[in-house]
Amino acid sequence: MIILGIETSCDETAAAVVTGDRQIKSNIIHSQLDEHQQFGGVVPEVAARAHMNILDHLVSQALQEAKIGFEQLDGIAVAGGPGLIGGVITGVMMAKSIAAVHDLPFIAVNHLAGHALTARLTNDVEFPYLLLLVSGGHCQLLVVRSADDFELLGTTLDDAVGEAFDKSARLLNLPYPGGPAIEQCAKNGDGNKYKLPRPLLTAHKQQASGCNFSFSGLKTAVRQLVHGKEKILDQDVADICASFQFAVGDVLSDRCHNALKLCEARSLGIKCMVVAGGVAANQYLRERIAAVSANSNIEMVAPPADLCTDNAAMIAWAGIERLQLGLTDAFEFAPRPRWPLDKNRK
Ligand code: KG4
Ligand code: ZN
Repeated sequence: MIILGIETSCDETAAAVVTGDRQIKSNIIHSQLDEHQQFGGVVPEVAARAHMNILDHLVSQALQEAKIGFEQLDGIAVAGGPGLIGGVITGVMMAKSIAAVHDLPFIAVNHLAGHALTARLTNDVEFPYLLLLVSGGHCQLLVVRSADDFELLGTTLDDAVGEAFDKSARLLNLPYPGGPAIEQCAKNGDGNKYKLPRPLLTAHKQQASGCNFSFSGLKTAVRQLVHGKEKILDQDVADICASFQFAVGDVLSDRCHNALKLCEARSLGIKCMVVAGGVAANQYLRERIAAVSANSNIEMVAPPADLCTDNAAMIAWAGIERLQLGLTDAFEFAPRPRWPLDKNRK
């Protein structure tokens, strides 16, 4: 089986070719950083236009690198949401057109399912597994039972964790996206210098509420720290970054611990803990979560950093998993700005 995947739900335009035996034949990503940098964040209208300008070239490039033509494909998968609707429309229309012209199955993939299933492309991960999904728009703990069966254990009550990284970075005058910038700066800082809040810390509780997150207080604490200083030196920025990352590490560790205990209490048969989404690219956080998993004798798997952030290989792979289940979509499929992962079934 060989599938073309398309991803245009945020600020990466991407196309990839992936096979059923887990080979990534091509994985082309065009980041729109230059387009959005001057605004300090993603501007939806600018993103949609940029996707439209480049997507056809990226699709050609992905096929060329994979050394195949449309006639060798078994299907077209596209991120059908959730995301910025102008971008999602661009990708979905391109995928439908290719599918219609070449008479191929059309598969609308939930972008979050793409993140959630990547670990099965890169590692031998079996269902069911516990998933910590940490990205720019989401922070959730889920049980993944199949490519089409996700149970939500907990989610953020306010900001996503990537959003907290991005907003805190902005307060510190660091470039967008904030995650990689904060991770880099934190290397020169003292994580114990500032005592930042750890919202909803509920260690050792086994209730579902112990799987929810809140990050807006952490961001506010960073704002107060920054505004409380007359002048911010490079060392201050490094110390704030390290303290911020330490706090996020404590929160994620605590919630993963609670979720693992919950799964154990419910005898869910979880064998693996997967961390996915852009924030999972963070080496420090990966190590913190690996330590929690090891404590419960559960293996932790996180895809390589370049497959944690948005890409089309994950969309192609999720498409393969859906096609293998016989799940394809009609051309009536409407792009979805919102699409909770536990409502993946159509
Ligand atoms: O999954 P993703 O590429 O896009 C969404 O679906 O949101 O995630 C982007 C988010 C951004 O908030 C970015 O700051 C964060 O992932 N991120 C990181 C790192 N690399 C990307 N956060 C922390 N550490 C990183 N190394
Ligand atoms: Zn994403």
